[in-house]
Amino acid sequence: MMTSADIRQAFLDFFRSKGHEIVPSAPIVVKNDPTLMFTNAGMNQFKDYFLGNKPAPFKRVADTQKCLRVSGKHNDLEEVGVDTYHHTMFEMLGNWSFGDYFKDEAIEWSWELLTVVYNIPKDRLYATVFEGDVKEGIPASSIALAKWKSLLPDEHIVFGNKKDNFWEMGETGPCGPCSEIHVDCRPDEERKKIPGHTLVNKDHPQVIEIWNNVFIQFNRKKDGSLEPLPATHVDTGMGLERLVRVLQGKTSNYDTDIFTGTIAETEKITGKNMTSAIARQL
Ligand code: GLY
Repeated sequence: MMTSADIRQAFLDFFRSKGHEIVPSAPIVVKNDPTLMFTNAGMNQFKDYFLGNKPAPFKRVADTQKCLRVSGKHNDLEEVGVDTYHHTMFEMLGNWSFGDYFKDEAIEWSWELLTVVYNIPKDRLYATVFEGDVKEGIPASSIALAKWKSLLPDEHIVFGNKKDNFWEMGETGPCGPCSEIHVDCRPDEERKKIPGHTLVNKDHPQVIEIWNNVFIQFNRKKDGSLEPLPATHVDTGMGLERLVRVLQGKTSNYDTDIFTGTIAETEKITGKNMTSAIARQL
C-alpha cells in the first residue's frame, strides 16, 4: 500500500516528468491581497500571473499547498466533523499552466496519473463538465466534453451548473469553468444497484470529488461582470487526504495514515478512545 508520503511524491514526480517546476506551498495566511484572509486554494499565490499583472517565472508549476476553508466563498466549516471527507485545513495537490497547455493536456494528464500511476479502476471514475450559463453568457465546455468522451463512456460524464462547475477564488479575481473528477468507492453490489453517475455531487459519503481541473479564462470584477483574460490558464486542485483515502481503500479520511498516528498519540495522552468518539460523531 502506498503511504501518504509516497502518494504526494508520486504526484510531484509525475508533473515534474511533464515539464513542471515544483514550487513550495505559500503561507496559509495570505499576504498582500485584501480580498482573501487565508489561502483557500493552491492557485491563490499565482493570482497575479493569471491576471497578467506579473510575468510567471515558469510556464508550468506543481506543488502541494496547505489550505484553510473556514470562511468566505469556500467555507467547509459546517461539514467538518459531520462527514468523513471535509477538513478545515487540508493539503491540495495542484498543477498549473500559465498561458501554456490548456484543457486537453490537463484532462489527459489527470486521467493518466489517476489510472496509470495510481491505478484507480477506470470504471469507478466520473467527470463533470460545465453545462454553460446563459446569464453569464458562457457556453457549455465543448473541449472538455470532447476530451472526456475520448476517455470515458457517456454515462460517466455528468453536466454541472455554475454552482459546481464554475470555480471562483473569491468575490473577485481569476475564475473559469471547471471539470471535476469523482470516485465511486462503494462496494460492487451497491454500484450494480444504483449507477454512480446519479450520486455525483449529491453528498454521498462514498462517491466523492477528488480533483478539480479549472480553466481560468476570466477575471470577476467588483461590479460582478466577467472580463476575459488576455491568456488562458490551468489551475487544478486535488485533495491529498481524499486521494489517500481512496488509494488506501478506507471509507473515511480519518482512517488513513495522515490521521491515524495523531489519533493514536492523542488517545495515549488523553486516555480516551478517539476512534469511537469520531465514529459516534459521524
Ligand atoms: N482552484 C481549484 C480548486 O480549488 O478547486
